[in-house]
Amino acid sequence: MASYNLKINGKTNKVDVDPSTPLLWVLRDSLNMVGTKFGCGMAQCGACTIHLDGNAVRSCVLPVSAIGKQDVTTIEGLSEKGEHPVQKAWLEHDVAQCGYCQTGQIMTATALLKKNPNPTDAEIDAAMSGNICRCGTYLRIKEAIKSVKQ
Ligand code: FES
Ligand code: FES
Repeated sequence: MASYNLKINGKTNKVDVDPSTPLLWVLRDSLNMVGTKFGCGMAQCGACTIHLDGNAVRSCVLPVSAIGKQDVTTIEGLSEKGEHPVQKAWLEHDVAQCGYCQTGQIMTATALLKKNPNPTDAEIDAAMSGNICRCGTYLRIKEAIKSVKQ
């Protein structure tokens, strides 16, 4: 066990966990922040995507000991009431079906749009290619991303 002071969604959270614990399980089990989902546990599906200093990363393979002073943002920290422009676009385009993958999709999309507010179709495809949706919502995800006015 070791103690970590993690900066998550603008607040410092103290956790006592094994250094090898993936951030995903610290979020879900230690901090009860269950918006971030477990899919594959092998960095293959994107369900667990969060932001680390603004970059979209897979929290299922990110050991808590590797975070240090970097800022973590989860879906809970994106906006208070779902009013982030990407979340609004998701609602307008009725993107979600079962919804399971959508936290990861939104976190990847928000990281993309922050760096590149007007991505081309190819840039959207490249950025989103690691986020799997078993319900096949890909076309609506793309339309929603393209509709976001930052
Ligand atoms: S659960 Fe992390 S990429 Fe699938
Ligand atoms: S909405 Fe069901 S897995 Fe993507």
